[in-house]
Amino acid sequence: MNSRTLILYSSVDGQTLKISNKLRDQLLETNQNVELYSIDDFKEDVTNYDKVIIGASIRYGIHNKKVIAFINTNIKQLDAVKTVFFSVNLVARKPEKNTPKTNPYVIKFFKTIDWTPTNVEVFAGMLDYKKYPFFDRIMIQFIMWMTKGPTNSNAKIEYTNWDKVKALGIQINNM
Ligand SMILES: Cc1cc2nc3c(=O)[nH]c(=O)nc-3n(C[C@H](O)[C@H](O)[C@H](O)COP(=O)(O)O)c2cc1C
Repeated sequence: MNSRTLILYSSVDGQTLKISNKLRDQLLETNQNVELYSIDDFKEDVTNYDKVIIGASIRYGIHNKKVIAFINTNIKQLDAVKTVFFSVNLVARKPEKNTPKTNPYVIKFFKTIDWTPTNVEVFAGMLDYKKYPFFDRIMIQFIMWMTKGPTNSNAKIEYTNWDKVKALGIQINNM
């Protein structure tokens, strides 16, 4: 029987959605049944699926509160199936902060939540100053200046390592 896989995402500027779509396309190649929803739209029971993948981006140091609320509400159900959590943020562009054990947001996330997914991953996101409203642009430029990243307001850089995304897809296939 084909396994059913659910991908739930929380994305503001679209990078977490892009990664989720990539994973979905890869999983579809092996004939799995894959469904993708924004965390805002999902109303079913997660135990209707064999594997549940949750992806969320970081804004000002935190993952979307709706993701945390969803996990807390569904913790028993999530523990009954195979699960993956992945985080998307710009700190992960740094090699020394791009694993679940070294990324500060992932470390903090799992200190505040009583959930242990089967697998955890972290991906570097997208920097696109032109997309950001004035206040956000100034803030991100400041964060980038502090962390020795690009501050030119034309900068548009996709830091996501797509080989790493593919590797997660393979792991999900083998779960
Ligand atoms: C307003 C704003 C705040 C952000 N805050 C952080 C942050 O605190 N730490 C970080 O590493 N990245 C931060 N980022 C970078 C995002 O995590 C990155 O752009 C990611 O690709 C966004 O994914 P999304 O498009 O799926 O929301 C921020 C981006 C924006 C626009």
